[in-house]
Amino acid sequence: MKIAIYPGTFDPITNGHIDIIKRATYVFDRVIVAVVRNPSKNPLFSYSERLKMVFDVTKSIKGVKTEGFDGLVVDFAKKKKAKVIVRGLRMISDFEYEFQMALTNRSLASGIETIFFMPHPFYSYISSRLIKEAAFLGADLRQFLPATVLKNLKQAKKQKAY
Ligand code: COA
Repeated sequence: MKIAIYPGTFDPITNGHIDIIKRATYVFDRVIVAVVRNPSKNPLFSYSERLKMVFDVTKSIKGVKTEGFDGLVVDFAKKKKAKVIVRGLRMISDFEYEFQMALTNRSLASGIETIFFMPHPFYSYISSRLIKEAAFLGADLRQFLPATVLKNLKQAKKQKAY
């Protein structure tokens, strides 16, 4: 069984992430969407909120499982018997960061490769940070976000400062 993990903060998950997840399922038998518990960023949504959103919007995609993880991504990959880390490459500006991460992960675990998928061009410029900023300023983001994420962002707008 070809297993891949797709790690990220997913604060929140967007249609761009879902596009990458679907592409990965065409290649791998199982794709584990791995939500990092303590990211280096300061997320808007809590770990359990991010995990639940990812689960809700991916549960109908065949071959996809959602899990949370703590610690090194390569250790989580080994635990799950995944030989591949999937990442999305939206633009050339992603390349440097992704290149560093892929090579660091390879030096930490030589048996695990990083494979990149390119999203549909429609999603090539969106990011969670810009989505949050636009949502808090009242933008209509239906084309970029699943309904449940939109709902959570509206709620967050009322409750949290961003
Ligand atoms: N569509 C839309 N947005 C996308 C996207 C896509 N297809 N692919 C990436 N993004 C955006 C994200 O929304 C996010 O935007 P933001 O910075 O505005 O929030 C950004 O690109 C990158 O986020 P993400 O893909 O979630 O990755 P990350 O950088 O937050 O997470 C981890 C990185 C979790 C994989 C990494 O920190 C990690 O592995 N941590 C575990 C500890 C570890 O092993 N460290 C050593 C790693 S070398």
